[in-house]
Amino acid sequence: MNSASTNAKHLMENIYTSVLVFDSKLRLTGINASAENLLSVSQRKVAGQTAYEILPASPHFAETIERALKMKHPYTERAVDLKLSNTNLITVDFIVTPLMDDDESQEVIVELINMQSLTRVIREENLSVLHDAARESLQGMAHEIKNPLGGLRGAAQLLEQELKGSELTEYTNIIISEADRLQNLVDRMLAPKGKLCVSRINIHEVLQYVHDLVEAESNNRLNVERDYDPSLPDFEADREQLIQAILNIFRNAVQAINEDGQIWIQTRIKRKCTIRQQYYKLAVQIEIVDDGPGVPAGIEGGLFYPLVTGRAEGTGLGLSIAQSLIQLHGGFIEYERIKHRTVFRIILPIRTRND
Ligand SMILES: Nc1ncnc2c1ncn2[C@@H]1O[C@H](COP(=O)(O)OP(=O)(O)O)[C@@H](O)[C@H]1O
Ligand SMILES: [Mg+2]
Repeated sequence: MNSASTNAKHLMENIYTSVLVFDSKLRLTGINASAENLLSVSQRKVAGQTAYEILPASPHFAETIERALKMKHPYTERAVDLKLSNTNLITVDFIVTPLMDDDESQEVIVELINMQSLTRVIREENLSVLHDAARESLQGMAHEIKNPLGGLRGAAQLLEQELKGSELTEYTNIIISEADRLQNLVDRMLAPKGKLCVSRINIHEVLQYVHDLVEAESNNRLNVERDYDPSLPDFEADREQLIQAILNIFRNAVQAINEDGQIWIQTRIKRKCTIRQQYYKLAVQIEIVDDGPGVPAGIEGGLFYPLVTGRAEGTGLGLSIAQSLIQLHGGFIEYERIKHRTVFRIILPIRTRND
């Protein structure tokens, strides 16, 4: 392969836009990674299939390509809904360009631009700027937390001595270990920003730890359904910070549901994805979902900003801290309301040696 076509291939693989190429018989001859992701298909499976076969539930897709080929004319359609084979619906801008050869259309290039992820990118950019400011104000607050925390821990220790091995020491243990963790976190917040204390972690172990913690502090038994992806590898991250971020989201979910409410935790591995304008081979997606009423409409827009709260006794710091911690790891958190369920989704890149 000459270097021009190697470059073109490299370019195709790494651009944000989803690109598919079809021949004059409407058979797929090329697809880039972004399109595989968007349409939830693998190149191996769909190579050689026709446009009708690739999206059988959306014949409009193939019809538009066929028309462009016949008319030898490019087509652009905005905000087209496409139904995927896995029944998911995506909304895309759809650009079809026939390539002419001796006045015959031989091939057609299809570009799909995912409207959802485009709006997401814009939101993240705004958030990053805001979070620099937010982080500074949090550092001020961290100072204020440090002193009372020492007193709290000391008191719990005295109490533990008084309890002398009774069952109640389970609770003093929680106070002490949580105070230590907070102390650790506060110290880290006061440290120069962006400093991670990285070790190799197993995300399912971290989720279990957070689950046990939240269960211990809630009066009711929690109704939690887990759906874990066993193929997720261990990866490098700051364990304390991850625990804090997930804990903040988990606690919100517990506060949002009623007594017989339900929480779902799902993990998935994501391949070939773009996160905050960076391309990664692997990422992990963690969803914490509840069947509560969802975020009040009035605060949705500023949900991840510090001091935005919808609860009388709330501080409005939980999600803002969680977002900062996850962003330090190169990822982001987003909120979505899907079919009467509240979804908080954490996307974290997994860095491999070659990244
Ligand atoms: N799972 C959820 N369901 C409904 N509302 C939520 C959920 N998570 C967060 N919220 C809303 O977002 C607000 C901000 O959350 P957070 O930043 O953790 O601060 P706090 O919990 O102290 O209010 C909450 O007060 C609540 O109104
Ligand atoms: Mg909270």
